[in-house]
This record gives sequence, C-alpha cells and structure tokens, in this order.
Amino acid sequence: MIILSFETSCDETSVAVTKNGKEVLSNVVLSQIDIHKKYGGVVPEIASRNHIAFITTVIEEAIENAKIKVSDIDLVAITEGPGLIGSLLIGINAALAFAYANNIKVIGVNHLIGHIYASNIEHDIEFPALALLVSGGHTELVYMEEHLSFLILGSTLDDAVGEAYDKVGRVVNLPYPGGPAIDKLAAIGRDTYKLPRPYLADKGYDFSFSGLKSAVINLVHNKKQKGETVDVNDLCASFQESVIDVFMYKIKKALEEYKVKNIIIAGGVAANKGLRKRIYEEIKDTKILIPSMQYCTDNAAMIGCAAYYLFLKHGANKDYVLGAISTLDLG
Ligand code: KG4
Ligand code: ZN
Repeated sequence: MIILSFETSCDETSVAVTKNGKEVLSNVVLSQIDIHKKYGGVVPEIASRNHIAFITTVIEEAIENAKIKVSDIDLVAITEGPGLIGSLLIGINAALAFAYANNIKVIGVNHLIGHIYASNIEHDIEFPALALLVSGGHTELVYMEEHLSFLILGSTLDDAVGEAYDKVGRVVNLPYPGGPAIDKLAAIGRDTYKLPRPYLADKGYDFSFSGLKSAVINLVHNKKQKGETVDVNDLCASFQESVIDVFMYKIKKALEEYKVKNIIIAGGVAANKGLRKRIYEEIKDTKILIPSMQYCTDNAAMIGCAAYYLFLKHGANKDYVLGAISTLDLG
C-alpha cells in the first residue's frame, strides 16, 4: 500500500511517500525555523501563510523523489491534530483537494501517534511497549499493550519538556529552538548549578517542568542583578541533567510496574543526545527504540507509517470530511 502523507501541524511543511507503513520512498521536510527564529518562537499566522506558499512544491517534490505516479497512491494520510489550527487546516485542505481530485481515499492521523510510530520505521515495535513522548507540546509516558492501544500513565501538569527547553534557551540568548542549542552546549558544560529535580514521587508518572524552568530564569536574573556572569555551558548541562534525571526516574519506575519488550522514545526531544546516551547506558534489559534524528522531529513519513496501521484497524474516511482538532490527545 502506497501512502502519500501530509504533516503541517506546526512550522514544518512536510509530505512523504511510504510503502506498507515501513518503507520511506520520500520524506520532504521544509522547515520554517529560519523564518520564525527572529521572533524567538513560532508565529502561527506566519506559519500558516508559509504552509500555503510551500505546500504545492513540497507535494510535487515528494512524489518526484519517490519515483511513483499519482495513480500508484492508494491512500492520502493527513495530520488532523494536535497542533496550530491554521497550520493544520492548510495541510488538511491541500491533502483533501489532492485526494478528491485524484479519487484517492483519505485517513486522518493523530500527530502524537505519528511520533510514536516513527519508531516503527527503522525497527519493529514489539508489544507490550512503553513510550516516552517528548515534544514541544507534549510530555507523556504511555503503556501500549498492542498496536494502537494507548494507556496514558502520566502527562505534564504544566509546561511540555520541549517548551521548557525553548524558554530556557531564550533566557540565555540561544537561538530558537532552544532544545538543540542547549543539547550542544550541555555536552561541553558540567552540572555545577544546583537545580531542582521535579520527580513528583507522589504524583505517579506525571511530570512538571515549569518549576525547573523558573529556577533557571531566577538564577539568570539574580546573577544579572549582582553583576555576575553565568556560565551558559554549565547552566545548560545542569538543566539538561535535571530533565534527564526525571525521565530516567520515571522510566525505571514504570519498568518495575509494567513488563514491556520495548521502550520507545518519541518526539522532537528524542533527538536529545544527552537523553539518548543516558538511556542506552542505564537500561540494559529492555530493547530501546529511538528513531534516527530525521524521524524524531516533525515529518510526514511518521504520519504515513502510523496511517498504515490506522487503516488496517479502522479503514479510510472516504467522504473527504476531515477537520482540524488542535487539542486532539492520545486517549
Ligand atoms: O516534535 P517536534 O518537532 O514538534 C512538536 O510536535 O512539538 O518537537 C519540537 C521540540 C522543540 O521544543 C525543540 O526545542 C525540541 O523538540 N528539540 C530538542 C532537541 N531537538 C529538538 N530538545 C532537546 N534536545 C534536542 N536535541
Ligand atoms: Zn511533533
């Protein structure tokens, strides 16, 4: 089954061609990061306008790179949420128009399921599995008994981890998005600043990163007021160590309670080198699945991969009725 998939939930305009939920024939990702950088974050209206400007070229390139004909496409898959409503609508309308014009069936895909299924592109997920979904908008620990079954063990009570990374990046004047920049500096810094570890031991598997973020912001402001300098590399290392300590604590706790075959790390923050290193070092008895960098951050290939399994379970939505659901969750 050849799937043409669309992903425009935030600031990446992406279209991919995948085969049978595994083989990536093309995956075109046009990032708008350089456009939004000067504003220090994604400006929704600008993101939507750029999706409009780029989507047609991206579709053409994805089909051309895959070396297929339009008539080879069996299904059009579309991210329907969660995400920025305007951005989602551009991808949805472009995909629906393409599918309708070419008489191809369509299916809506939850962006979060896409992130989790990115791990199934280069590996075969074995169940039961535990998934840590860490992105700019989400921080969730999920138990999966089988394909497409999601039991949310814990979520963030406030900021998503990627959001905390981006805000900390801003306070130490790093370019947007803060995550990759902090990760890079953390590798050359040391964990010297005493930052809190929000383990939330009494809250099961829930997370909270706003206190940690505020601790960093207060530290920077206090130093500034006293005319002292901050060692940015060390501050990045200290922040990142705290975040990773929390993730390791929750993962180990979940592994004691749930016997799983695989641990999946998904979402943009799964690209974090420090997190990848610690998890491989400390978890030896359970197979770890982390997508390669290109499939960690937003991309349409993961949507096509998830769509295949969703199609097997639910079939397609043939009447072309599909709307954007900005607050869609995994449940
Ligand atoms: O999954 P994603 O591309 O978009 C959302 O669905 O949110 O994730 C984007 C987030 C941003 O907050 C970005 O700073 C973070 O992923 N990120 C990282 C790294 N690369 C991207 N965070 C930590 N370390 C990284 N290497
Ligand atoms: Zn994402």
